[in-house]
Amino acid sequence: MSVELNAKSFPVSFAALEQEAKMKMSEGGYGYVRSGASHEETLQKNAQGFEKLSIVPRMLRDVADVDMSVTIGGRTYPFPVFLAPVGMQKLTHEEGELASARAAAAIGVPFVQSTVSSYSIEEIKAGTNSSPKWFQLYWSRNEQVTFSMVNRAEQAGYEAIVLTVDTVMTGWRETDIAADFSPLKLGFGKANYENDPAFMAALDNHENEAVIQSLLENIHYPNLNWSHVAELKKRTKLPIYIKGILHPEDAKLAVENGVDGIIVSNHGGRQLDGIISAIDALPSIVTEVDGAIPVLFDSGIRRGTDVVKALALGAKAVFIGRPFIYGLAVGGQTGVEKILENFIEETKITMSLAGISKVCDLPSIKLIRE
Ligand code: FNR
Repeated sequence: MSVELNAKSFPVSFAALEQEAKMKMSEGGYGYVRSGASHEETLQKNAQGFEKLSIVPRMLRDVADVDMSVTIGGRTYPFPVFLAPVGMQKLTHEEGELASARAAAAIGVPFVQSTVSSYSIEEIKAGTNSSPKWFQLYWSRNEQVTFSMVNRAEQAGYEAIVLTVDTVMTGWRETDIAADFSPLKLGFGKANYENDPAFMAALDNHENEAVIQSLLENIHYPNLNWSHVAELKKRTKLPIYIKGILHPEDAKLAVENGVDGIIVSNHGGRQLDGIISAIDALPSIVTEVDGAIPVLFDSGIRRGTDVVKALALGAKAVFIGRPFIYGLAVGGQTGVEKILENFIEETKITMSLAGISKVCDLPSIKLIRE
């Protein structure tokens, strides 16, 4: 696999990537992507959580052949790093989600499409054919809209529903408040709504303003509770992943409520500030779940060594958010592919130098907390 971006000009480190992306994006757009909630304590803790963990490598273990494949829910992927659901990607690049979905397809990892996308489910499906795709669901205030979107994803051949549960309202995002910046108010992220028969039927008129107003009213649902998960299970045959779990008791409830997987995540520090870093939350959740369902992970993954640490703590696969969005800003589809390729290479090197030749053997790595 190779991409045509000039390798020399493509930023390698996360810091350089962020700087380059900043130059390509509007000030408001960059602030929206980069920032976290409140005073960004959790955003910082996500990174520090990885720095506190040290790998204790093994030697003389024949790492000539490294197998990076991972099997989740009966499906095998070539590599355990997936693209997190990120809304409104046209804010970052004119080809938005279509470019990142195509990059995921080229590498063979699932693309997780946000509810608040710049392209509809049907457009992404048409633009990427049969590559694996999952649909991230924000539970709508209007239940008919919720189930209509789930149904559309199922009809389009999407392979899982990711229900995000940490966004019953938007976090206190000071960067956006200070800049008076709201991508939804600017009209980004409405493609799935505008193409939804239940949503359009619920509108009195189809004026753009009315669509945006109704979307703003619909998008968050503070009443969300486990009964909705039970209802969702009845409405779809697709596996259901719950994204945003941090407490082992919630992980236990997820298993008891029959969900198919958990994504340990604090939304990249964008929702509730002053909380545990996602990587610190992971071990007790893995212990609680005890292999009953796959535990996936995101928030703070910036390089291959972070991937290895999260998998060593029991995550089956990880998602990256900001790194691929910056790749998208810098180089569109090619930029996202380049990011994924760099993650593959660094993860492979880290595994090899730590004496591990199979992703499924990563939990046997010794980690110490400094
Ligand atoms: C997100 N995230 C997110 N999550 C989700 O479930 N639905 C969404 O629409 C969005 N939108 C979104 C926009 C932007 C700009 C960012 C940065 C993030 C959260 C995302 O899925 C993931 O949890 C974090 O991005 C992971 O943290 P890192 O990798 O960015 O540190």
